[in-house]
Parts: sequence; C-alpha cells; structure tokens
Amino acid sequence: MKLAVNIDHIATLRQARITNEPDPVYAAVIAELAGADGITIHLRQDRRHIQEKDLELLRALIKTKLNLEMAISMDMVKIALKYKPDICTLVPESSEEVTTSGGLDVVVYNDKIKEVVDNLKAAGVKVSVFVDPNIDQIKACYRMGINVIEINTGEYAENWNNSNATLELEKIKKSIEYAKRMNFRILAGHGLTYQNVFPIVTMRDIEELNIGHSIVANSTFMGLTEAVRRMKQIIA
Ligand code: PXP
Repeated sequence: MKLAVNIDHIATLRQARITNEPDPVYAAVIAELAGADGITIHLRQDRRHIQEKDLELLRALIKTKLNLEMAISMDMVKIALKYKPDICTLVPESSEEVTTSGGLDVVVYNDKIKEVVDNLKAAGVKVSVFVDPNIDQIKACYRMGINVIEINTGEYAENWNNSNATLELEKIKKSIEYAKRMNFRILAGHGLTYQNVFPIVTMRDIEELNIGHSIVANSTFMGLTEAVRRMKQIIA
C-alpha cells in the first residue's frame, strides 16, 4: 500500500502570515525523500492554502506522482489542463467548510461531474473521484466510466475510538469488495492518523492512502522526514 502525502497545511501555515514560509514545495521534496509515493494538493477556489504558483512549481519538481484535488468546475478544469497533474481527484467543495466534508455526490451531480471527467480524460489526465463508502455512489462512478475512486474514511476517523467504529469499517470493507469486483483502482483517505490508520491498512485492496493533516501536525514536533517515515512504517 502506498502513501501520498497531502501538503495543504504547510501552505495553511504560510498563508496565516501571507508570507513565503513554510514553502509547500520544500515540503514536497522532503516528503518524497522520506519515502512518500506521491504528493497531493487541493487548489481550493478560495485559495486558502495552496496557490496556483505552488501547483506550477510542484508540477515541475515532483518526481513521484502529483495528485490535484479539485472542485467540479470548468475553471478548475482549465487550470488542470494547463499543468497536467498525474491525476485529478474530484471533491465536493464549499467555502464554509473547514475541510472536505463527505464524498462527492455522484448521483446528484452526475451531469456536472461527467462534463469535468470527459474534459480531463480527453486531455489524457487521469481522474479519481472522492466518494463515501456507499455502493450506490460507486455504481454511479462505474456508469460514468470512472475507474479510480478514493473512499472517504472521514466517518470512520471521527468514530475510530467509539462503538460506531466497527460499523464504519464494515461500510468501507463492503465498498472495497464491491469496487474490487467492478475492477476499480481503490484509494482511501481523510482523517487518518497514526492512531487510527491500522484497521484501514489491513484492507489490502486499497492501493494508496492520502494523508495530510496528521502528518503535517506531527511534523511540527518531529520534523517532516520523521513524520512521513513513521506513517510509512505503519503502512508497511
Ligand atoms: N482525501 C481527500 C479527498 C481530501 O480532501 C483530504 C483533505 O484535503 C484528504 C484525503 C486528507 O485528509 P487529512 O488531511 O485529514 O489526512
């Protein structure tokens, strides 16, 4: 199982002072040297952390894999086509949320998602869709010709240390079993930490985990190299 490190919150710290440090581009290089298999950024429409300039520099520098999380908007498609990340992950986005809250509703936003997916795919950009662990959502992705999904582990992460954890893990397991049968490539992430990641790691059909906040938070105490290494160790 691979680890993609989300470096958004390095940029959050920089933007807190609207200055030039800490630099997410340095963070990406350090994370790669520490063993990250990919780098993820979310270029939000409100530009609260990652900026377009970061995307430009990261595109030029990253040696592993650049995953651009983006809202389902044609403005974002234009940016994605300009920089051609290795993969784009479609996520729901609202300026009021603190972080991505829930998977994209592929049933409700079917037409809008299809337009974005078709445009990205026509330009040769791979697409993943962030979905809740729900069979109907995965079926809707299948009907749209999507073959990579990222399962939202957020609900599990919020409940990992209470009695709902088993139920949330069961939803994830069932979704993975179904997605595997339908030949999806399966990624997962959101809310994963050093404390709660282990049950997810045991689900071997997950190809890659996307982890950001916990790694960046712990890097303030132990350094980014060590924070990435420790997460890699748990996953291994
Ligand atoms: N996956 C997706 C689609 C996300 O939007 C995020 C948060 O940006 C993550 C994974 C990583 O979540 P966290 O920062 O909680 O590890």
